[in-house]
Amino acid sequence: MKPILVIGATGRVGREVVSQLQAAGKPVRAMARTPESAGLPEPVEVVYGDLTLPATLDRCLEGADSVFLVWTAPPDTVAGTLDQVTKRARRIVFLSAPFKTPHPFFQQPNPARRVAEQIERSIEGAGIEWTFLRPGMFAANARHFWGPQIRGGNIVRWPYLAAPTAPIDERDIAAVAVRALCEDGHAGAEYVLTGPESLRQLEQIATIGDVTGRALRIEEMSPEETRREWAGLYPPPAIDMLLNAWAAAVGQAAHVTSTFAEITGRPARKFREWVADHAADFRG
Ligand SMILES: NC(=O)c1ccc[n+]([C@@H]2O[C@H](COP(=O)([O-])OP(=O)(O)OC[C@H]3O[C@@H](n4cnc5c(N)ncnc54)[C@H](OP(=O)(O)O)[C@@H]3O)[C@@H](O)[C@H]2O)c1
Repeated sequence: MKPILVIGATGRVGREVVSQLQAAGKPVRAMARTPESAGLPEPVEVVYGDLTLPATLDRCLEGADSVFLVWTAPPDTVAGTLDQVTKRARRIVFLSAPFKTPHPFFQQPNPARRVAEQIERSIEGAGIEWTFLRPGMFAANARHFWGPQIRGGNIVRWPYLAAPTAPIDERDIAAVAVRALCEDGHAGAEYVLTGPESLRQLEQIATIGDVTGRALRIEEMSPEETRREWAGLYPPPAIDMLLNAWAAAVGQAAHVTSTFAEITGRPARKFREWVADHAADFRG
């Protein structure tokens, strides 16, 4: 059997894709910039590769059939790298974003959008089988958003507490990726994937408190306070992107799709389940 190449294999979704492919008995090859510290389980073959150095993809793609692609690298080498991938692979599943969905949350300025669009155009023009995954807000963001404050005390200060999202579990994104990589019938599909319920940020933080048995005090921060306090922690365009998206989200339910359930035949995991399975990330 030809190996399935996972690019972004050490990331949140890619790691899950590797482990689910392995569990399904598929031959997996993981690309990593530092294979020695990738921390991927045997017998996964880990091969050095860097998206910013297109020639390094050669060895990764040798004999590979399908490719799962996550792109968080700078955009300069998109054309050269995608050319390498699309010349060698028969099928590609790309982790994109829901920028075609006409919900205000997904329609705010976002610097990552241009890169994703460029990648999609390269893939579409290459004449190979492709599937684009368009997940909404990852449940796993909770670890970075609120983990540090909850580990450090009982007060959580956060902007736009009334903004709803429908967090999706990275294991569910990976499950759809695995189907699209291994089964026929997904070519040309663009799957908008969300969690099963619309939850305000306030409710998400309260869920973490509830599941971990903590009495959290949740306080609203103004956008101005947020910009001031987050300066230096995150790049300004990332702060603007989040604040704009949350501001636009207030006042209507989050966009929720049943795509995951339709593809897999089971309901998407609730945010509460994600928290229960990652409760240790919120303990001091
Ligand atoms: N967070 C959200 O709510 C959300 C929602 C929708 C879509 N998305 C999309 O999801 C993607 C991120 O997925 P994720 O959270 O699973 O990623 P992640 O955890 O940030 O991991 C990024 C992966 O890319 C690898 N990588 C980075 N630069 C590389 C390079 N130059 N060459 C090779 N590999 C490189 C990293 O490998 P190393 O170990 O070498 O660093 C890592 O495996 C983004 O494209 C984002 O736009 C995110």
